[in-house]
Amino acid sequence: MNIAIDGPAGAGKSTIARLVAKRLGYVYVDTGAMYRAVTWHMLQRNIDPENTVEVLQEAKNLVIELIPDEHGQKVLANEVDVTADIRSLAVNRIVSRYAQIEGLRVKLATLQRQMALRKGVVMDGRDIGTHVLPDAEVKVFMTATVQERARRRFAEMDGSESITLEQLEREIAARDQLDEQREFSPLVCAEDATVLDTTSMSIEEVVESIIAMAQSVQ
Ligand code: C5P
Repeated sequence: MNIAIDGPAGAGKSTIARLVAKRLGYVYVDTGAMYRAVTWHMLQRNIDPENTVEVLQEAKNLVIELIPDEHGQKVLANEVDVTADIRSLAVNRIVSRYAQIEGLRVKLATLQRQMALRKGVVMDGRDIGTHVLPDAEVKVFMTATVQERARRRFAEMDGSESITLEQLEREIAARDQLDEQREFSPLVCAEDATVLDTTSMSIEEVVESIIAMAQSVQ
């Protein structure tokens, strides 16, 4: 089967999706990493998100690869390892603007569907249950308060980037708003998704509840 996990920034999707995939022996696909890799590539070339024609032209020759490794997955953009760089504040701040571009979404969604063709995939993102894999056997919409999501992201940071918890909270809220309000495949809970508010759940509890959902459809 395929498992779709959607939700706003910092809800814990990638941590959970990775653990669920490990438990089930499935492949984890982080679609946010793909949007981030495109963003990193465009920033390197000074191609603004407003310049959609140039973004799409450049994207034609851009190959994004997700390669599973012992730490989770390696992300390559035209064979350059961008795994660490795509998590920078610079990418965080602008990724949702590139993610609004319809042609880019079509390209990445096509790639994501190909990755899920043989099933056995846990895919996380914003539009997986609604748009990329509407037939996924298990759909989860994972959320938590914006304060809790900012707190979790802040705790993960190593202090090398100067940002306060309050700033981070504002930036996360702004990114959510762009993702929710975009015209093409916005962040929205699929009608048939199970909502998991993880604000006061442990990682293990969330993983167990998704495993239980998967077992109930087998
Ligand atoms: O999941 P992550 O926070 O890494 O995603 C980064 C950004 O990529 C999101 O804020 C969103 O703008 C975009 N994204 C998307 N659709 C997806 C996954 C990510 O638009 N399926």
